Amino acid sequence: MYITPTPHNEAALGEIAKTVLMPGDPLRAKEIADAFLEDYTCVNTVRNMLAFTGTYMGKKISVMGSGMGMPSIGIYSYELFHHYDVDCIIRVGSAGGISKKVGLRDIVAVMGASTNSNYASQFHLPGTFAPIADFSLLRHAVEIAEAKGLSIQVGNILSSDVFYNDLPEDSFTWEKMGILAVEMEAAALYMNAARAGKKALGLMTISDHLATGEALSSDERQTGFAEMIGLALDTAVT
Ligand code: ADE
Repeated sequence: MYITPTPHNEAALGEIAKTVLMPGDPLRAKEIADAFLEDYTCVNTVRNMLAFTGTYMGKKISVMGSGMGMPSIGIYSYELFHHYDVDCIIRVGSAGGISKKVGLRDIVAVMGASTNSNYASQFHLPGTFAPIADFSLLRHAVEIAEAKGLSIQVGNILSSDVFYNDLPEDSFTWEKMGILAVEMEAAALYMNAARAGKKALGLMTISDHLATGEALSSDERQTGFAEMIGLALDTAVT
């Protein structure tokens, strides 16, 4: 039933866990495996989109890069859900703050992912679709973050097709609708999960703010990311 390997993933069926953490950067996938997983092995190197499978608190977990943008995460998450029978994908990434309610280092749990992308057109829906997180994952992530005393915000974000926008002020048009931050992948992940009948959640660390121009240094990114990864892994094993 499941055809593996795929054109983009050389792992055999069974080599990828039912729950996968997806950072955008495949080298960050390696860092996560190094820092958090036990007894891990590398199960994909195709196009250097590294994937690792090991255990966290005794549970089998995989971590795999998604690449940047909706076409990229669209391919990898589709194959994980449909070819590798993955049940749950948690995206762990960075986002640029749009709302004044979010500051650098805050973690945003993505309840909804609005988008300027045409990704949903493939589903031929007679209207628009609201890409949303799996509620049980979202609830667990928020409860765990609160218990850990982490600064977490929950809400709607923008998944954008463009990083270098010809009209940068366009991003702020979304603020009036309560959009907290901008990143480039969650909407496609949520749509793929919905179509597959599977679970997805996005957790983002605010790495820069579009209104103020502030940005985290690479050292600060590292620390902020470690908190988010710990949160994602604790959510994954709950
Ligand atoms: N990810 C982190 N910062 C971002 C930004 N400013 N725009 C889009 N994606 C981002």
